[in-house]
Amino acid sequence: MKDNQNKQPVTVIGLGMMGSALAQTFLKGGHPTTVWNRTAGKADALARLGADAAGTVAEAVAASPLVVICVLDYEAVNAILEEAGDHLEGRVIVNLTNGTPAQARQTAAWATGRRAEYLDGGIMAVPQMIGTSGAFVLYSGSLRTFQECQPTLELLGAAKYLGDDPGLAPLYDLALLSAMYGMFGGFLHAVAMVRSQQIQAEAFTSLAIPWLHAMSASLPRMAQAVDAGDHRTNVSSLYINQAGFENFIGTCQELGISAELMMPIRDLINRGVAEGYGADGLSRLAELIRKPISV
Ligand SMILES: NC(=O)c1ccc[n+]([C@@H]2O[C@H](COP(=O)([O-])OP(=O)(O)OC[C@H]3O[C@@H](n4cnc5c(N)ncnc54)[C@H](OP(=O)(O)O)[C@@H]3O)[C@@H](O)[C@H]2O)c1
Repeated sequence: MKDNQNKQPVTVIGLGMMGSALAQTFLKGGHPTTVWNRTAGKADALARLGADAAGTVAEAVAASPLVVICVLDYEAVNAILEEAGDHLEGRVIVNLTNGTPAQARQTAAWATGRRAEYLDGGIMAVPQMIGTSGAFVLYSGSLRTFQECQPTLELLGAAKYLGDDPGLAPLYDLALLSAMYGMFGGFLHAVAMVRSQQIQAEAFTSLAIPWLHAMSASLPRMAQAVDAGDHRTNVSSLYINQAGFENFIGTCQELGISAELMMPIRDLINRGVAEGYGADGLSRLAELIRKPISV
C-alpha cells in the first residue's frame, strides 16, 4: 500500500482512452483519485484499482482541489463545467481536451468568472505513453496555478509551461499535431506507392525511417529562414521542387493510386512560383500559408 497522506487528491472527468490512462497514472502515483464519466460503467475498472467513482459531476468536482477534464470536445467540457455549478469555486480546472485557442480562452474566462483557477493543456502522447519518459504535456494559464499543480501534473509526462494566455497550449498542440499529420500523411502516401507494387510496407520502413531522421535535421535551418523572412537557398529551389512534383503526380497516375495528399503541396509550390518566388527554398511555403489566397 502506498502512503497517500501527502498526495494531492485529484479528480479525473472523462474516462475515454486518454482519461482512463490519466486516472490510472494518478492512482499509481498514490494520489487519492475520484473519477466521473458520462457512461458510468467506464469507471468500474478504475474503481477496482482504488478510485472513487462519483455519482455526479458536482460530487466529482467537490472531491478534489485539482480537477482534470479530458473529453471529446469543448462543447462537452462546457456542459460538464455548467453542471458542476458552485462547486467550481476554489478548484483548479486543468482541461486537457483538444480544442482551438479561442475555445480555450472562452472556457478560461468562464471558469475564472466562477472563481475557479483554469489551466488549458495539450497532451503530446498517446494513452499508452502517459506516465512514461516519452510523454510531455503543454500547459498555459496562470503561472502560479501551474507551479502549485506542477508536482502532480509531472506524473503524466514532462509538464511544459508556455505562458499566461490559455490559448497557447492549444496553439502549440495543434501546430505539433500539424507536423505529425504531415509526417504520417507523407508516410502513408509512400507506403501506398510501394504496396501498389507488392513491396512490403514494413520492409520499406528500413529506408523511410533513416530518411525522415536525416530530413528532420533540416528543420532548424528552415525555421531560421522563416523567422528571418529570408528564403534564399543553396539546397533546392521551388522551381526544382515544382518539377519534382510533376513526377509525383505522373507516378501516381502510372501506379493507379490517388495523388490527393500530394496535390495541396504541389498547389502551394505552384503558387510560390506564380508569385515570383521560384528561386526561393521550400521555407517560402510557410509565408504563403500565412497569406491565404481567399481571406
Ligand atoms: N487518444 C489519444 O491518443 C489522445 C492523444 C492526445 C490527446 N487526446 C485528446 O484527449 C481527449 C479525449 O480523447 P480520448 O482518446 O480519450 O477519446 P475517447 O476514448 O473517444 O473518449 C471520449 C470521452 O469523452 C466523453 N464525452 C464525449 N461526449 C461527451 C459529452 N457530451 N458529455 C460528457 N462526456 C462526453 C466520453 O464519454 P462516454 O464514455 O460517455 O462516451 C469519453 O469519456 C480528446 O480531446 C483528444 O483529442 C487524445
